[in-house]
Amino acid sequence: MQSLLNKKIVLGISGGIAAYKAPELARQLMQEGASVQVVMTEAAQQFVTPVTMQALTGNPVYLNQWDSSIPNNMAHIELSRSADAILIAPTSADLMAKLSLGLADDLLTTLCLARDCPLLLTPAMNKQMWEHAATKRSAKRLLEDGVTLLGPASGFQACGEVGMGRMLEPSEITEQVIAFFQKKSLAGKKVLITAGPTFEAIDPVRGITNHSSGKMGFAIARAAVEAGAQVHLIAGPCGLDTPLLATGQITRTNVVSAKEMHAATLNAPDSDIFFAVAAVADWGIAKPAKDKIKRQGNQAPNLEFVANPDILLDVAKATKTRGGKPYPYCVGFAAESTDLEKHANEKRKRKGIPMIVGNIGPDTFGSDLNQMVVIDASGSKKIAKAEKLQLARQLIQLVAKKI
Ligand code: C5P
Repeated sequence: MQSLLNKKIVLGISGGIAAYKAPELARQLMQEGASVQVVMTEAAQQFVTPVTMQALTGNPVYLNQWDSSIPNNMAHIELSRSADAILIAPTSADLMAKLSLGLADDLLTTLCLARDCPLLLTPAMNKQMWEHAATKRSAKRLLEDGVTLLGPASGFQACGEVGMGRMLEPSEITEQVIAFFQKKSLAGKKVLITAGPTFEAIDPVRGITNHSSGKMGFAIARAAVEAGAQVHLIAGPCGLDTPLLATGQITRTNVVSAKEMHAATLNAPDSDIFFAVAAVADWGIAKPAKDKIKRQGNQAPNLEFVANPDILLDVAKATKTRGGKPYPYCVGFAAESTDLEKHANEKRKRKGIPMIVGNIGPDTFGSDLNQMVVIDASGSKKIAKAEKLQLARQLIQLVAKKI
């Protein structure tokens, strides 16, 4: 799935060492379906060549406002009128200062002043420059003017120092540009999500788990952040990266067993919506051995199981009300191999939750694709087979309407 299909992005590049990441960023934006028109400042050309950007984007690169090859010589107007957004990566401290003052002394700054589309900046500079009062002032003014700042991040800098001011990685910028264009249907809402499998220890080296990859839960986390929510993700062992981490809109707790997931979920701060996506082990081992259980010929050990707590059931039981409305709005998941809708709806009623999502069978484990049936008291709605992120976005819109 391409999340930036039909989007026209003007990619501005200013003079900073992070410009070496601009070609990769252009490629990633294009892989998501965007068309990319590059505009470079004079200083940017010291770090990356226009030929590189032209070869990658397939579009001529604009370098100055005095280009006589443009028929009406109005590149600053034309480029901004046709764009869905102007993204400047990297954005130097100097460019931030100019933009915050409304200066327009080259093509890129003139373009920004003449624009009628959103402006997204990815600051990139040495940490002292980022922390300087003048840069803070620029950032504050730009935010007041409705400009979006993506980053910066903290970490190793080209100058050898460590601190705040690094440009986000191209993949993080792309993820955030995609998020920028999504509908903000959960702005101001708090979302709690369990995702992935749980692992029930038998001894220090062995355990019982399941095939859940965590991909569906993580896709819902990403879609919720994209929709403007503040998300807390409680993840079983699945090794997936936290989506949209650089936005500051998502926190994560890693757990191993169902009991840990239960405690982390019930102790989590209040949320408006709870998605129970985790494939929680139904049983744990009553007394996991402290040391590795030694093999004893052909004799198998006798393992005693105990039922694990039902996290979703307990969250649903603890539903509170605010202004006459119950919260959190609980959304369960059901993977069934037969009579999906019937079994899922029975599960919804048994757990006392308003909505359940039926997944079609265990073949969706680990796959990027899934299909769903969303069931609530008013009926059911099928969502056709698609990438999990696409399904997650549709589910978020459905739930947003319910609350
Ligand atoms: O009862 P069953 O496991 O089939 O229900 C599935 C739903 O309940 C999923 O939403 C799952 O995350 C949740 N669940 C839970 N705690 C359990 C078992 C399931 O939260 N111990």
